[in-house]
Amino acid sequence: MKAEIRYQSISGNTEAVALAMGKVLGIPAKSVEEPIANDVGLVFLGGGIYASGLGGRLKHFVSHLTAGNPATVVCFSTSMNKGDISFRVKPLLEKKGITLHPTELNISETLIKPYKPDVSKQVYDMITNFVADIKV
Ligand SMILES: Cc1cc2nc3c(=O)[nH]c(=O)nc-3n(C[C@H](O)[C@H](O)[C@H](O)COP(=O)(O)O)c2cc1C
Repeated sequence: MKAEIRYQSISGNTEAVALAMGKVLGIPAKSVEEPIANDVGLVFLGGGIYASGLGGRLKHFVSHLTAGNPATVVCFSTSMNKGDISFRVKPLLEKKGITLHPTELNISETLIKPYKPDVSKQVYDMITNFVADIKV
């Protein structure tokens, strides 16, 4: 299945996770400014939480997806408090007939910040375990 990674990151935390995820999956991690290819099976979509909401560029990315491409989105996020982005992304995906994967990887900013731009082994292992459970 063709998979891509897209992320929005204002202060670099989600970017660090996305880049590590790219290493684990062997594919490039790209900003949400970059459109996805055709016939993508799965997009790993990452973002921070800002004022209890999604970043504007991430929202724009999801709103401009073509119906059914990708087939599925799986979310990952970084935040101060534990807070998923999936339930915020879900209504946007439903309008497009795109499936939201039921699991999400959320990583506290406190686990990332001291290690920027590279993540710690702990975070790398969290990412590795997460993607191992997703059928790519
Ligand atoms: C302006 C701003 C608002 C934020 N609001 C929240 C929030 O409501 N809830 C939360 O858990 N984290 C909040 N955070 C923390 C970010 O979600 C966290 O630092 C995240 O890792 C940022 O991702 P980024 O570095 O990829 O931009 C906020 C951070 C900023 C800068």
